[in-house]
Amino acid sequence: MPRKIIIDTDPGQDDAVAILLAFASPEEIEVLGITAVAGNVPLALTQKNARIVCELAGRREMKVFAGCDKPLVQKLVTAEHVHGKTGLDGIALPDPTMPLQESHAVDFIVETLRQEMPGTITLCALGPLTNLATAFRTAPEIVGKVREIVLMGGAYFEVGNITPAAEFNIYVDPEAAEIVFKSGAPLTVMPLDVTHKVLTTRPRIEAMRDIGTEIGHAVAEWTDFFERFDMEKYGSEGAPLHDPCVIAHLIRPGLFSGRHINVEIETGSPLTRGMTVADWWGITDRPKNALFIGDVKSEGFYDMLTGRLARL
Ligand code: RIB
Ligand code: CA
Repeated sequence: MPRKIIIDTDPGQDDAVAILLAFASPEEIEVLGITAVAGNVPLALTQKNARIVCELAGRREMKVFAGCDKPLVQKLVTAEHVHGKTGLDGIALPDPTMPLQESHAVDFIVETLRQEMPGTITLCALGPLTNLATAFRTAPEIVGKVREIVLMGGAYFEVGNITPAAEFNIYVDPEAAEIVFKSGAPLTVMPLDVTHKVLTTRPRIEAMRDIGTEIGHAVAEWTDFFERFDMEKYGSEGAPLHDPCVIAHLIRPGLFSGRHINVEIETGSPLTRGMTVADWWGITDRPKNALFIGDVKSEGFYDMLTGRLARL
């Protein structure tokens, strides 16, 4: 039985690859809907980009919803310096013609969890957690019905990528992250510690291009564009392909390993706002609220990703 998921996202080239991977894996995953949030670029672009990706995959029937256009408390911080002004720079794709759903993304999340059987819905969060936190605040009773939240965000050993202390998704909306991390819902976290181990090296990008399809070409062009910023910053041989780790975990959990630990969010200090304080060494007796992933078999990850994308 495929797992029913909602993808909450701020596309973003890496978000786009994650969405395509989900579409390419119907045995394991049934995507009930895609909810866009402001993050890498403003909401007007993330909701448009989500539909561009759906149309690229031939999924015009997919329900795409626009969600929150700014964080709960903080002023929106975006990342055009990484993703380009459209958020999907690297290849020019046609504007979407498929409809954006009328309802707000938060209402879709709340109603889906209310209507579906308890323990059957997985929330896959690839951007700032504003939509999820707003849904949990709007309808606290849905938290107990969530099967699992799998999110890309935070860091411990890798520390920060948008500030010296914080990873972008958590930094943009730390108050929302605090609500999600304290919600009590089963939580699996893909931090920079693991995403920095799946770098878009040249052979891996060429393997995508060699798929020989429009999708393979788009993914190669996106990663070519998206990686230049991180390669310059880290001097690495590729960029971390962050968000597909969330979807890959649903398909091949054995590729990943981590620890069940306490993770709390800094919301008070301007200097360390959005830091995920992860008790990796079990120093405190704070509640273990998250499976914090620290390692991945990166060759297996890319073999699986490339093989799946070749199916589309
Ligand atoms: O820090 C990486 C995260 O921020 C990824 O989800 C990327 O898409 C951006 O949203
Ligand atoms: Ca993202």
